[in-house]
Amino acid sequence: MNHFHYRGGILFAEDVPLPVIADAVGTPVYVYAQSTLERHLTVFQEALAGLDHLVCFAVKANANMAVLRALAARGAGADVVSLGELERAVAAGIPPERIVFSGVGKSLEELSRGVALGIHQFNVESEPELERLSHMAQAQGRTAQISLRVNPDVAARTHAKIATGGAETKFGIPWTRARAVYAHAARLPGLEVAGIDVHIGSQLTDLEPFEQAFARVAHLVGQLREDGHQIRRLDLGGGLGIPYDPAEPEPPAPADYGRLVQKLAKPLGVSVIVEPGRLIAGNAGVLVTRVLFTKEGEARRFAVVDGAMNDLLRPAMYEAFHHIDTVRQTPDNAPRYDTDVVGPVCETADIFGRARSLPALAQGDLLVVRSAGAYGAVMASTYNSRPLVPEVLVKDDQWHVVRPRLDEAFWRGMDKLPPWLAH
Ligand code: LLP
Repeated sequence: MNHFHYRGGILFAEDVPLPVIADAVGTPVYVYAQSTLERHLTVFQEALAGLDHLVCFAVKANANMAVLRALAARGAGADVVSLGELERAVAAGIPPERIVFSGVGKSLEELSRGVALGIHQFNVESEPELERLSHMAQAQGRTAQISLRVNPDVAARTHAKIATGGAETKFGIPWTRARAVYAHAARLPGLEVAGIDVHIGSQLTDLEPFEQAFARVAHLVGQLREDGHQIRRLDLGGGLGIPYDPAEPEPPAPADYGRLVQKLAKPLGVSVIVEPGRLIAGNAGVLVTRVLFTKEGEARRFAVVDGAMNDLLRPAMYEAFHHIDTVRQTPDNAPRYDTDVVGPVCETADIFGRARSLPALAQGDLLVVRSAGAYGAVMASTYNSRPLVPEVLVKDDQWHVVRPRLDEAFWRGMDKLPPWLAH
């Protein structure tokens, strides 16, 4: 479900025609539909209704302050993995008691700030981290609430680069060692064990790996309670996939996932935290890009667009599929051609779509790369000294530039010449 639809042959974001934004802001530009963000958050909240729950948006998926603010206003918490994300969440109005801090490598500064803010919980991933957090909490005269992230050793059946629940990955504490590490945690001052955390991967299009992981978690809750730990809550991470390719079957709906979570949590009498990122933001955003040139290669037909891998890295990095549409609809009977949509960056990997069936394209035509609201702008870089891509938020018939295009001269000015090269 999203709010990008054709009206009178033009693609709109909510009630705003995309050419209006493209002409005013320039391209490439990310455009987000606030109503879609809100709707996805609500769907998740509804899927967990009846359970004591907290939906913590995974800020890594989309860290724009306007996006965070819109979600905060609807009761979202935040899952953060760095000081930068923590400060953004707080500045956007997400109360610390709705913030969880994840990640395998939290710095002293990050732990310290989280403790000082009194965040809801730290998801701890190693024994050295436990000890460091314990020191930090003691030094501040506070108690930090913790869950241990366990690695349940299940195959997430997703792209290898975003599977995190296997024994060979760096994530979490092996579930077979969990009892020993919980015993260690219980002995440390300044910490209070609140629950268990698990996150097995991202873009999961099948519920079975979740089921396997949840079964291991349920088993562990029993064991840990026998050992005398008060396991009050489960953090089940994020990971539910979204539809990227209209030709593929739809992934399970949040309601199906919610039923699975309810089945796990109700008998255990625990509250639940979930950390969806992609599901909330993914289909709430598109990357709008303009055709610079078209050309016929020896073997293929190319549309060279002004967006590139530095603006949207997913296709180059994960061979990810993003559906590509023209902003101006063509009649159904217009001829279509297999077209490679490529960017200007000097790498063969700089390709948004291969052999896409598109109408004849001309210089200046606008295209959208869909499902780009999650892991899009946040992963953008200035590679090839291209300015960071701007972001626009739409709500009904209003729109606003929520991150302007990075000014080239400003960015260049960030580089400082050493004295021996300065003249
Ligand atoms: N919680 C933890 C601890 C995570 O590591 C992640 C994602 C999430 C929640 C949110 O997962 P989601 O609901 O969005 O699947 N850059 C990659 C995705 C990396 C995901 C990393 N962790 C991509 O573009 O596909």
